Amino acid sequence: MGRRIFLLGLVLALLGTPLAVDKNNFKTCEQSSFCRRLRKYEPGNSVYHLDLSSLQVNENSIEASLVNSEVPAANLKLHLQAVVGNIFRVTVDEVNGLHPRYKPQFALNGEPQVNKLEVLERNLETVTVKCGSNKVKVTANPLKLEFYQSEQLVAVVNGKGLFAFEHYRNKPAEGETDVQIKDDPGAWEENFKSHHDSKPRGPSAIGADFSFPGSERAYGLPEHGDYLPLRTTGTGGNDPYRLYNLDVFEYELDSTMATYGSIPVLYAHGTKHTVGVFWHNAAETWVDINNSKDGNMVSSLVNLVSGSKTEANVDARFMSESGAMDFFVLMGPTPRDAVKQYASLTGVHTLPQLFALAYHQSRWNYNDQDDVTNVVAKFDIHNMPLDVMWLDIEYTDSKKYFTWDPIKFSQPENMVSNLTGTGRKLVVIIDPHIKREAGYFLHEDALKYDFYVKNKEGNVYEGWCWPGSSSYLDVYNPAAQDYYKKLYSLEFFKGTTHDVWLWNDMNEPSVFNGPEVTMPKDMVHYGGWEHRDVHNEYASAYIRITHQGLLLRSPHRRPFILTRGHFAGSQRFAATWTGDNEAKWSHLAASLPMCLSEALSGLSFCGADVGGFFHNPDPELLQRWYQGGIWLPFFRAHAHIDTRRREPFLYPDEVMSNIRHSLRLRYAHLPLWYTLFWEHETTGEPVIRPLFYHYPEDEKVLDIDNTVLVGQSVLARPVTTAGETSVEVYLPGGSNAKWYDIEDYNLYQGGSHKVPVSLDKHVVFYRGGSIIPRKDRPRRSSTVMHNDPFTLYVALDSNNAASGTLYVDDYQSFEYKNDKKYLYVHFKFENNKLTSSLIDKTDYATEEWIERVIILGPVNKHVSKAKITSKSLGVATLEVSYDAEYKSLTIRKPAVSVREPFTIELV
Ligand SMILES: *[C@@H]1O[C@H](CO)[C@@H](O)[C@H](O)[C@H]1NC(C)=O
Ligand SMILES: *[C@@H]1O[C@H](CO)[C@@H](O)[C@H](O)[C@H]1NC(C)=O
Repeated sequence: MGRRIFLLGLVLALLGTPLAVDKNNFKTCEQSSFCRRLRKYEPGNSVYHLDLSSLQVNENSIEASLVNSEVPAANLKLHLQAVVGNIFRVTVDEVNGLHPRYKPQFALNGEPQVNKLEVLERNLETVTVKCGSNKVKVTANPLKLEFYQSEQLVAVVNGKGLFAFEHYRNKPAEGETDVQIKDDPGAWEENFKSHHDSKPRGPSAIGADFSFPGSERAYGLPEHGDYLPLRTTGTGGNDPYRLYNLDVFEYELDSTMATYGSIPVLYAHGTKHTVGVFWHNAAETWVDINNSKDGNMVSSLVNLVSGSKTEANVDARFMSESGAMDFFVLMGPTPRDAVKQYASLTGVHTLPQLFALAYHQSRWNYNDQDDVTNVVAKFDIHNMPLDVMWLDIEYTDSKKYFTWDPIKFSQPENMVSNLTGTGRKLVVIIDPHIKREAGYFLHEDALKYDFYVKNKEGNVYEGWCWPGSSSYLDVYNPAAQDYYKKLYSLEFFKGTTHDVWLWNDMNEPSVFNGPEVTMPKDMVHYGGWEHRDVHNEYASAYIRITHQGLLLRSPHRRPFILTRGHFAGSQRFAATWTGDNEAKWSHLAASLPMCLSEALSGLSFCGADVGGFFHNPDPELLQRWYQGGIWLPFFRAHAHIDTRRREPFLYPDEVMSNIRHSLRLRYAHLPLWYTLFWEHETTGEPVIRPLFYHYPEDEKVLDIDNTVLVGQSVLARPVTTAGETSVEVYLPGGSNAKWYDIEDYNLYQGGSHKVPVSLDKHVVFYRGGSIIPRKDRPRRSSTVMHNDPFTLYVALDSNNAASGTLYVDDYQSFEYKNDKKYLYVHFKFENNKLTSSLIDKTDYATEEWIERVIILGPVNKHVSKAKITSKSLGVATLEVSYDAEYKSLTIRKPAVSVREPFTIELV
């Protein structure tokens, strides 16, 4: 939840104006002084050159002095390094600068492993280095870096000459025609005054331009309420994409405005190659995009009309307020490679417990402990599965975290044991603002031990949030981290158990009376860093403690945490969601590109509040939202305190039955989701994927963001508009590709189709060529499904073949990691024979078995028998029947354990 009940909103409501984001609260590039300064640089005037006489060649890197010809006193060094896995890293920093420059501490999953770099050619004008089949040509004057995949130029840095590195100075140099200061008289004074240690340092922004020849689209840079392909900025009133974690009340769609999360990774993609840039900086950042092929751009329309062809080209320009310059070039060459390269740097979400992939029921707020108990009972009465109940801020004793409201939640132990006794879990919220109230242990301790963020005068910073006057723990202080993580212990946080998990909200951080609803940039963190330096990383630093605290509390359970604020690398600690969305069709539609963008940027475990947070969805929207929500990795219904109750059992039978059907489809596919999360952990592949990820050569998919691939085998195209009787869906793979409707098994060829949609229809397909493991027995929670048998759906391709994987373990502990107690199974169907084999040499004593095999699109309908062969069964005969309505073969009761390899042959 988390939003402001501010007077402003109230006034607007009284005036009858629909509530919407108040843009006046948030800066435009023009109002952000460094963005304005840097954006005024003219192309072609770069004042930076490398002094190649200073070139130093090391085994894994080269480095040389970088000279600013207008400010020779700036002593910069450029460092180019090869990183394992087709990645280059470029850093530029000041040597003996007045102040150190910040580098994010929690984005990278450890220091990247360096690779050998070979110098191909060097003289005083250029130096060319090689690593594997990739090459970088560095030109000295002006500075330019050209990146080649094999011999193909794919990325150019400073090709436009917009490189910027404002270096810290005591005062403007004598007679200096200071571009930054000349254009922005306020900047020097503003920065001068704002620094806490009253040592002047002046502006400190950095920036660089990147060109991607041959690229037709750019993707990434979440989080924005926007399409998946990034639009051209700077024209038509579009500001650059802003990356600055903010609590934006009623955020806008079709917008480049900042929202709760910031992940500075971008992928430039063309049908021939893909390349990525990860801009490793935690300060406020703006990114301009110029896409010569952008469908929205006038020039491309002109090109279409006149028939002239421009070479595809995407330009991007990163601008950050402070910090060292440090970026990685992900050399692809496919989207899949580039996304995995990014994951190799920033890490993955470790396999969640199974329940975390099931259905979550939340609202601000469940009124009291009886309400919680009753909601769960209603789900059971109406045969709707449910795994997790959520408690928003009202469960606390007047917004003091780690406490319970003494009246409404007087018996938390009892409530939790009632809940978890039925296999369910509880998630409670803990936010980073701390109520400044005498007698509140957390506040008193934080004061006593000096754990709070300070202002530049050295006093504790005070802001305003849910509890009223609040202060904020300095999550960069190791002693504060150590103290805070222990608060999650069961002894300390009474009422919690190993089945109670966490939600960290408002951690941008949200400060109701702060500039742009956040913490002022000149607040000071441990180590002397200004909030300006660490802002986008604050949420990550915070959830990292929660993660450590939960591991300490429950060492044998995989932690579940949901976070709103996020940054590069946050996936190692938590899942995320798209924040305070609205009960509108447009927000349902936006949930797909928003989560796809997060998934490409490392954060696969993403979802959107089902039903929309603000306002009341009508029953049609609610049903469609459940139908769409089940195909995103994190699946939670949530609602604002002012909305009407909307738990699915409150609706008429027909609505309830449609929602029940959606919930059951989600539960049936839990084995697939779980397998995909295991594969995410082991390979870095996202759990959900846009079409271009698997079909990079198909131009038709470049702009499709209403369709989600779950792994590689399921394609979902949720209905996201009102009153539809049919929807258009594009099924990729060409005319040879086969796709099967998952409900009636109708066969579709690759291409565009118009699919009729009744209100209960899911527009979802299995890709011919895949085998999907499901658990089809309806249950009340995932916990009671652990030992249920599987049904394998074998969707045949044009060669009558298919394959798939299944991952199985105890669904909750770390034994899969520590003791290799898991099964990773490969299924293959060809020549009328299904073969199951173990991919890894591991074992897990599961009771799960195969109860059914359903073959979609069989060639021969007249099969009545199959022969199963396995070690424990020997050879046995199975019954097979053809269903004419569903055009499928069913092999009944193989009754073989998934633990043992087997074959089933149709005879
Ligand atoms: C965008 O790119 C086009 C084509 O390369 C160029 O003509 C135009 O000037 C660029 N626009 C901006 C704002 O840089
Ligand atoms: C737990 O369940 C029991 C039995 O149904 C009920 O009497 C009690 O009120 C419940 N406790 C809470 C805190 O909801």
